[in-house]
Amino acid sequence: MFARLTDDHLDDMGLTLDQLRSALRDYVEGMGALQQEIDTVEKLTIRGGFNKDREAEDFELDLIPGQITCIVGPTGSGKSRLLADIEWVAQGDTPTGRHILINGQVPDAKWRFSIEHKLVAQLSQNMNFVMDLSVEEFIRMHAESRFVANVDEKITSILVQANELAGESFTADTPITSLSGGQSRALMIADTAILSRSPIVLIDEIENAGIDRKKALALLIKEEKIVLMATHDPILALMGQRRLVIKNGGVAKIIETGQAERDNLEQLEILDRKLMALRHRIRQGETLETI
Ligand SMILES: Nc1ncnc2c1ncn2[C@@H]1O[C@H](COP(=O)(O)OP(=O)(O)O)[C@@H](O)[C@H]1O
Ligand SMILES: [Mg+2]
Repeated sequence: MFARLTDDHLDDMGLTLDQLRSALRDYVEGMGALQQEIDTVEKLTIRGGFNKDREAEDFELDLIPGQITCIVGPTGSGKSRLLADIEWVAQGDTPTGRHILINGQVPDAKWRFSIEHKLVAQLSQNMNFVMDLSVEEFIRMHAESRFVANVDEKITSILVQANELAGESFTADTPITSLSGGQSRALMIADTAILSRSPIVLIDEIENAGIDRKKALALLIKEEKIVLMATHDPILALMGQRRLVIKNGGVAKIIETGQAERDNLEQLEILDRKLMALRHRIRQGETLETI
């Protein structure tokens, strides 16, 4: 191809042959980096900073893959801020002054700034699709940009999983702009679980999203990830190994989920199923004179 390029072609591109060669080499190397195995994260450490009154948090916490850590606290207390500190791999350079260590060390710059080593997959509260694509085209584009093998298989499994999470079903042909909030969430969770190689998943308050929360969590942690989740949902909170209680911008307390709480989880799930059944009846236009 290079041999066939005329001076006119090169003029059109505004490049010399050498520049074109080196741009092609950079491009191929960049794409190759996407296919490399991602470094493993065996441990994520959160080193405390300061609350909103600049009082020291005074804690250091190690998180390992397969664990769920919940973040609880009133609105405005700083739950999303803590998730953002982790996403940015804070090094004392955010309003909280927290430090995040990877495998016990100050992370290499690649963890902070490179796309192919992106540490974190984040599921945020609000999601809006603005592209004119079908669900299938959207997943295909994502899968191909990540050089995933057997794209069609992945598309099918993401669709199946997303439909299991969403209350209302959708198909490969559904335009992404017409998905409901719950369906968008379900699609992003299935997409993250199946395509994302990020070892850390951050979830900001999924409880109101009209999806099966428990299935969503199970799907995400099956992939041996470190999960942090801001939540007010008692069932989700008890499913975690521990919860960080945030007050006034700082971690005020760390509660390990004990056996007594786990025993109550079953009770909560019975209550939850009861409420879900009532919700279903309301949707179907029934009355609740007997419950
Ligand atoms: N330790 C802190 N120091 C200074 N500002 C903080 C701290 N923690 C949180 N904030 C700020 O407080 C505001 C509310 O925090 P946010 O994380 O959005 O609360 P939540 O998600 O719990 O509702 C944000 O502007 C955030 O940047
Ligand atoms: Mg928040």
